[in-house]
Amino acid sequence: MRFTDFVFAAVIAVIFVAIIIKIHGYRFFDKKRKYHPVAGTVIHQLFNFHRLLEYMVDLTIQRKTYRLLSFIRSEVYTANPANIQHILATNFPNYGKGWYHYSVMSDFLGDSIFTVDGEKWRHHRKTSSYQFSTKMLRDFSSSAFKSNAVKLAGVVSDAAISNNVIEMQDLFMKSTLDSVCKVILGVELDTMCGTYKEGTEFSNAFDEVSAAIMYRYFNFLWKIMRFLNIGSEAVLRNGLRVIDEFVYNLIRKKIEEIQKLQDNSTVMKGDILSRFIELKETDPKYLRDISLSFILAGKDTTAITLSWFLYQLCKHPRVQEKIAQEIREATNVAAGSTIDELAASVTEENMEKMQYLHAALNETLRLHPAVPVEGKFCFADDTWPDGFSVRKGDLISFQPYVMGRMKFLWGDDAEKFRPERWLDENGILKKESPYKFTAFQGGPRICLGKEFAYRQMKIYSTVLLGSHSFKLADQNGSVKYKTMLTLQIDGGMHVYASQRQN
Ligand code: HEM
Repeated sequence: MRFTDFVFAAVIAVIFVAIIIKIHGYRFFDKKRKYHPVAGTVIHQLFNFHRLLEYMVDLTIQRKTYRLLSFIRSEVYTANPANIQHILATNFPNYGKGWYHYSVMSDFLGDSIFTVDGEKWRHHRKTSSYQFSTKMLRDFSSSAFKSNAVKLAGVVSDAAISNNVIEMQDLFMKSTLDSVCKVILGVELDTMCGTYKEGTEFSNAFDEVSAAIMYRYFNFLWKIMRFLNIGSEAVLRNGLRVIDEFVYNLIRKKIEEIQKLQDNSTVMKGDILSRFIELKETDPKYLRDISLSFILAGKDTTAITLSWFLYQLCKHPRVQEKIAQEIREATNVAAGSTIDELAASVTEENMEKMQYLHAALNETLRLHPAVPVEGKFCFADDTWPDGFSVRKGDLISFQPYVMGRMKFLWGDDAEKFRPERWLDENGILKKESPYKFTAFQGGPRICLGKEFAYRQMKIYSTVLLGSHSFKLADQNGSVKYKTMLTLQIDGGMHVYASQRQN
């Protein structure tokens, strides 16, 4: 380092420390309370942005809980399950989304389950939980997952016959969006084959808006850009126009249709939007916000998990074969059955028998959680089970990605993909604490679509792995994640498929 560089770095460091002290004051020197040790600053995070999650792994190996100083607040990161249980369950009302998250998300999702806290959240949670628990939704969603999995397997089959490389992450993204839109909105988007123009436009706009919203978390100038309607904020505004036109049209038509049906006292429809309308919920804004929230929650999460799952199965052919064997035994389909026969053979009872498949999905989520980092705001000063305190306004974070790699939680082979760790000596799935395996969060705000997601992933796995075997296009290569709010594979997941003979 040259002398001038050294002086420059020292001046920046002094200014930074001065700002931190000005903002945080000397409150952390409070003798009565202990605060978690400082491991760095958000500037360090920025320097490590290209390997952000690995950087956080390195810090957590040194300390289970630590603070990073930022210009506006302390950020407290913990991998201690006792602390996480305290945040998510024991002192649940003291930690939430807060105004910051609301201000970033509300242009897209309004006042929905994802953006609000307190009484508003409780109301959303209660009405949505009821919808997610009905047998009608279970049956309707299983049938939507099956038909979309069959369509996807058809594309895979064509590529297998012509020995073409397939980018599976993109196909999973399209297929899970098609499934989730069928279940939530009751429409066939068919982004997989692109036959419905408005559906494809809606899907493209949805992706653009989601990306622009995520970008707000990294771009502190977004409010000015929104005011000037430039860059990503202009894209967001245009995207929202397309989304709103599509969704409001659909809501209007559905309300008319259902009111006519109800006049003639005819049968109920299975999609969630219709179910809300049938229960006399007809405020278009409420219906829009709740529908878009469910689509956002269910779209990329399962597609990303299925992509990493397939990647791990290609890296571990023994596991891939074991799952294919379990599928054959559980569904009892004859060798050489068609994709349709395979899909028809999946029942709730058969899926229950697929314990090894469930274990492999858990193992995927442990190492590659679709939501790698989770954050909450602290509403009032508090002391955690580890004896250290946090302050009102602190950003509290725990990281499923980091926790999945910790030896103190998972043993010396924590970094190894080993589905067996989830099974007992009889091959039955062991229960795991949601405060240690945090991929779905835990406590009152645990993922509402967890069972829904497992059902979808099991159906897709049965249809795809029962009919094909997969190997990586570049057998010696490995893939990396993109630093985003979800754990997408950078550049996609390229494979060859071949039809199963047995
Ligand atoms: C592998 C798939 C999935 C994973 C890993 C996952 C993970 C999560 C996580 C970590 C949260 C907490 C997010 C936060 O509060 O910031 C969450 C919440 C939620 N998830 Fe999922 N999710 C998955 C699939 C789904 C699906 C398919 C749906 C439904 C279509 C869904 C619906 C929801 C809802 C409604 C919430 C909000 C719950 C609340 O705040 O009360 N999720 N999910």
